[in-house]
Amino acid sequence: MSWSPNSWRDFPIKQQPTYQDQELLKKVEAELASYPPLIFAGEARDLKKDLGRVCRGEAFLLQGGDCAESFNAFSGKNIQNLFKLILQMSVVMTFSGEKPVVKVGRIAGQFAKPRSSDFESMGGVELPSYRGDIVNDIDFTEEARIPDPYKLIKAYNQSAATLNLLRAFARGGLADLNEVHRWNLDFIKNNPLGIKYEELSCKITQAMKFIASCGINTANTPQLHQTTLYTSHEALLLNYEEALTKKDSITGDWYDCSAHMLWIGDRTRDLGDAHIEYFRGIQNPVGCKVGPSMGEDELIRLIDALNPNNEEGRLNLIVRMGANKVEDHFPALLRRVKAEGRNIVWSCDPMHGNVEKSSTGYKTRDFDNILTEVKQFFAIHKAEGTVAGGLHLEMTGEDVTECTGSQSCSITAEDLASRYHTQCDPRLNANQSLELAFMVSDFLKN
Ligand code: PEP
Ligand code: CO
Repeated sequence: MSWSPNSWRDFPIKQQPTYQDQELLKKVEAELASYPPLIFAGEARDLKKDLGRVCRGEAFLLQGGDCAESFNAFSGKNIQNLFKLILQMSVVMTFSGEKPVVKVGRIAGQFAKPRSSDFESMGGVELPSYRGDIVNDIDFTEEARIPDPYKLIKAYNQSAATLNLLRAFARGGLADLNEVHRWNLDFIKNNPLGIKYEELSCKITQAMKFIASCGINTANTPQLHQTTLYTSHEALLLNYEEALTKKDSITGDWYDCSAHMLWIGDRTRDLGDAHIEYFRGIQNPVGCKVGPSMGEDELIRLIDALNPNNEEGRLNLIVRMGANKVEDHFPALLRRVKAEGRNIVWSCDPMHGNVEKSSTGYKTRDFDNILTEVKQFFAIHKAEGTVAGGLHLEMTGEDVTECTGSQSCSITAEDLASRYHTQCDPRLNANQSLELAFMVSDFLKN
């Protein structure tokens, strides 16, 4: 079966915008294809190796960020706060959970959104749905909802600037293990969770002083001073991905150079469709969401298509069943995949199966349901003797009120209105994310 970066165009495709000006779209696609790659193939291979360790249970995957990045909320401060939060959560899981953490942001390209309906209604008016800032605008006007090809270029530029800052943070000193105290965000500092984190930071600082006196320090051991944060997004708009698909000069293989890792959403994973066709030809690590409608045979065929050589860090299956469904649907799938000897990085997305509408009218998720799904995910793996490899979260380093519950901030349905800023799905705020990291570190240790 021959493959090329544009062979997906011969297959049925879902969830794509309809552009009015096809000539303009072609021009934009050609322009994008002339731009430099955002990542290079060697980095994607490094991530595949790191995910191989996750697959074998030697490390844990933390993948998180916005549901949808936005052009408006683009700022150095937001990027820095998410970066710090990911570092904090990782250090908690590494220190208390005793597992190294592979860090992957939903960032620097996470713009396009699949929607459950093509139309949105408000006050008797019906308009085409918002599909992410890379496609159209969130404002509820006819004009705003028209897909604009130039937004593809704007998304590329924002991704490049974001990645530039992330690389600077990762290498430039912010990730230094002597700086763990500085990662604590201002609005967390003084609550019980912030204090718990502060205690852990003190232990790390002590350990750093001890190893420094043994001669191991940031000058001679770069791992203490630097980190790697990989990038990822849902590769929904295949024309954008195709434009950034490059042939690696070392191996001659094709890589999607828009991010280190890409995934297929739950709505676009049909076997005969364009997304599977595109993904089978790129050599990056790839993910696929697994919702409650997935069948056992279907899953094996999907694995055959996406990971025919059974490579260890190639395929991440991101289970997103919902707290009330995971026990019914997941064990049979897991048993079958185990029986067939497939190497999979299993991670838990406790967000997308737990969406509800609050009594005050907001799309929300309750922390208890999120935690229940995570707990069950770990328990099911324990029972089957398989590896609970990672966590996939929609989260932000900001102090928003989008998900209800949690001990650290106990947000109620009435509180949601105060700082509800998401462009799409409700995210865990920094307190809720850190609280979850402490809980997961206990599961990891056990
Ligand atoms: C998402 O991750 O934002 C998403 C749309 O997820 P899913 O495909 O699992 O619904
Ligand atoms: Co989402």
